[in-house]
Amino acid sequence: MMSEKNIVLTGFMGSGKSMTSNKLGEICRRPVVSTDALIEEREGKSISDIFSEAGESYFRQVEKAVVQEVSAQQGFIIDCGGGVVLDAENLMHLKKSGVVFYLSASPECIFENVRHRKHRPLLDVTDPLAKIAELLSQRQPYYQQADVIIDADFKSIDQIVQAVLKEFSNE
Ligand code: S3P
Repeated sequence: MMSEKNIVLTGFMGSGKSMTSNKLGEICRRPVVSTDALIEEREGKSISDIFSEAGESYFRQVEKAVVQEVSAQQGFIIDCGGGVVLDAENLMHLKKSGVVFYLSASPECIFENVRHRKHRPLLDVTDPLAKIAELLSQRQPYYQQADVIIDADFKSIDQIVQAVLKEFSNE
C-alpha cells in the first residue's frame, strides 16, 4: 500500500518539478497542487505581476500561507516553487505530512530548461546562467535538507518519476 503522505517536490526553477508532479499525479491517481498556481489563483495575478507590483517579500508571505494550507492535507502531490524551502517553517510543515524530494540539477541543465519556458522574474537578468549558478550555490544548504535527493541532472521526466516512486515506496 502506498503511503498516504504527500509527495513533495522541491528544487530550483527548471529542475522538472511541474512536469514530474503532473506525471506522478497520473500514475498515482492523486491530485496535484502547485504552490505557484495557488498563489496566482489567490491573488488573481501572475507570479511576475506579484513580484513587480507587490515585491518578493509579499510573494513569500502568500507562499507561506499556501504552504501551511497544503501541508495540512494528505494524499497530494505538491509542486513547490523553487524558493519554498528557504523558509525553515515551510520545510517543517511539508515534512510533517509528506516526503520531501529535492530534484537536483546543474546550472547548465536548469539554464537549458528555463530558456524557452515560463517567465521567471528572478532570472530576468543579462546573464541568467551566472545568476542560476549563484542562487543555486546559496540555496544548496536548504535544498539538501530534503528527505530524499533525486539526481535530476539532464534526466528525462520518466527517469525522475521512476526514481521518486522507488524512494517513496520505501517509506
Ligand atoms: C521562485 C521559483 C518560482 C516562483 C517564483 C520564485 C524561486 O517557481 O515561485 O518565481 O525563488 O526559486 P518555480 O520553481 O516553479 O519556477
